[in-house]
Amino acid sequence: MRHLMNPLDFSVEELDKLFDLAEDIEADPAKYAHACTDRKLATCFYEPSTRTRLSFEAAMLNLGGQVLGFSDAGSSSASKGESVSDTIRVISCYADICAMRHPKEGAPMVAAERSRIPVINAGDGGHQHPTQTLTDLLTIRALKGRLGNFTIGLCGDLKFGRTVHSLINALIRYTDIHFIFISPPELKVPDYITDMLREKGITYEEVIRLEDSISQLDLLYMTRVQRERFFNEEDYVRLKDFYILNKEKMKSAKPDMLVLHPLPRVNEISVEVDDDPRAVYFKQAQYGVYVRMALILTLLNSAD
Ligand code: CP
Repeated sequence: MRHLMNPLDFSVEELDKLFDLAEDIEADPAKYAHACTDRKLATCFYEPSTRTRLSFEAAMLNLGGQVLGFSDAGSSSASKGESVSDTIRVISCYADICAMRHPKEGAPMVAAERSRIPVINAGDGGHQHPTQTLTDLLTIRALKGRLGNFTIGLCGDLKFGRTVHSLINALIRYTDIHFIFISPPELKVPDYITDMLREKGITYEEVIRLEDSISQLDLLYMTRVQRERFFNEEDYVRLKDFYILNKEKMKSAKPDMLVLHPLPRVNEISVEVDDDPRAVYFKQAQYGVYVRMALILTLLNSAD
């Protein structure tokens, strides 16, 4: 039985197979409409979510399965002090697979150690968000036709952004990736990541202004400044509108540069950019359903 805690839990070859399956699901969804009849997905979300929880639920429903779960810790027995280890032992009696989001880094891993069913990390604190990374990689592969040989700009909150940390970890396994990290100094990418890139000989730059580097990019991955990870409101207010991608800045970008964003966005992408064909963040959310369908099928097969 397999779990998914980190995008690196799957080899590049396994990811290729997963993305092939996701693309087959996209091409012929009817073929998979009964693939999970009599199977149940539990969504245990101790932290707010729109896309991840609902796309997991849509994925299971599209596969003919059923869903159960909770969408905040306050409505679960966590509010009475129940541990994640006990909760997953109980959930294992009710469901065949579990997607868990938790504000504490490592909580889904603790659950996986005690679980009798596959556990998927649906985001743990500022640590990892592997199914967002699968979504990002599938979107890039589907729309660019390759996973490698590009310059990617990651912009915004690179310190707390778990989607950014997961995506960097996943991309370094492909060839000819050059990173441009675009952030205010307070939100720069953690040292352990830049140390790891230097050790592996992967090239990167750190810059503050988006305007200075947008013309070099094949991909621009925008992120939100995350209010919930700040220790004080004053710092959040100072940094929250540091970047705003607008039509004017898009004029300097390559004609085939893609703009991705894990969403939710706040102000960092002006709504006037939404109609630009290079803005693919809503398509990205759709790819999230296909890849989660493929993941559910793959992990359930591993448990049979
Ligand atoms: N991208 C993402 O994780 O969105 P939610 O927080 O809405 O799940």
